[in-house]
Amino acid sequence: MADPVVVAEGLHKSFGGVRALRGLDLSVPRGTVCGVLGPNGAGKTTAVRILATLADPDAGLARVAGYDVVREADEVRARIGLAGQYAAVDEKLTGRGNLRMFGRLSHLSRRAAHRRADELLERFGLRDAADRRVAGYSGGMRRRLDLVTSLILRPEVLFLDEPTTGLDPRGRGEIWDAVRELVADGTTVLLTTQYLEEADRLADDIAVVDRGKVIATGTPDGLKAAIGDRLDVVLEDPAALRPAAAVLHALAGNAPAATGAGRLSVALPAGGPRLAGVVRELDRAGVAAADVSLRRPTLDEVFLRLTGREEPVR
Ligand SMILES: Nc1ncnc2c1ncn2[C@@H]1O[C@H](COP(=O)(O)OP(=O)(O)O)[C@@H](O)[C@H]1O
Ligand SMILES: [Mg+2]
Repeated sequence: MADPVVVAEGLHKSFGGVRALRGLDLSVPRGTVCGVLGPNGAGKTTAVRILATLADPDAGLARVAGYDVVREADEVRARIGLAGQYAAVDEKLTGRGNLRMFGRLSHLSRRAAHRRADELLERFGLRDAADRRVAGYSGGMRRRLDLVTSLILRPEVLFLDEPTTGLDPRGRGEIWDAVRELVADGTTVLLTTQYLEEADRLADDIAVVDRGKVIATGTPDGLKAAIGDRLDVVLEDPAALRPAAAVLHALAGNAPAATGAGRLSVALPAGGPRLAGVVRELDRAGVAAADVSLRRPTLDEVFLRLTGREEPVR
């Protein structure tokens, strides 16, 4: 992998008896977006806090922009930005006021702080709202301002911890646009999310995190392909769910999931049975299918399968 700008190896971190990270590895090439995807409690924020020098690991090592996050924390801090789920902007100030203040706090001269604020407001579509107080901003605008604030010093690496959690679809779209804009500048972005769609849309590479560990990595397409095709079956009689599930389980070697009344879906292994074979076996078991089809899995299905959270038929 060419020039990883974020590297984590075997990160461990416990809080009392809670093992938040259990040997987490990551590698993010420069200029790419890495999506760290995982459910609540997976350890995403703990990992980001360590990478952003806000917490020390119990074991393992991490380097950001070439510097060790523990021993060279100041060097790391000078090269990163961090924005998260809870916007840290001042409600009483305007958007422009917030950016100027952060610029000054970051030791820019007054002139440089003003110039940078204007540039960023323009660039990230906040010009019209720039002179309104943040108290009147929508959730999406607030989060966008927070993100923009973290860009004042042109970080090499930007950490976004669940930047769209709790936003409505419009706010989410606004953040996505901002992230794309950033990447066009060459910023490396590590973003955590619980939303598969978000990782699918924004990330070059995805690391699926579960219980403090990366359990799979790959491009969105690569992860979908690795999981194999998906077989969907619609039954004529919803009551035939269990016998149909037994047939599919035997064919696919995986437990099918119930996806609706009289609907089953199962992951097929690469080189697994073809449609005709499935239809024949269902027929042989006396199960009438209204529809049988093959497709690529969604990232949701990939995730549920990887984390073992697919709902089996009972
Ligand atoms: N400061 C803390 N004190 C105690 N437990 C914590 C603390 N921070 C995180 N945890 C626990 O560590 C686990 C991982 O948390 P976190 O990294 O916040 O996950 P995520 O961001 O993926 O939701 C959870 O079980 C959480 O309750
Ligand atoms: Mg979190």
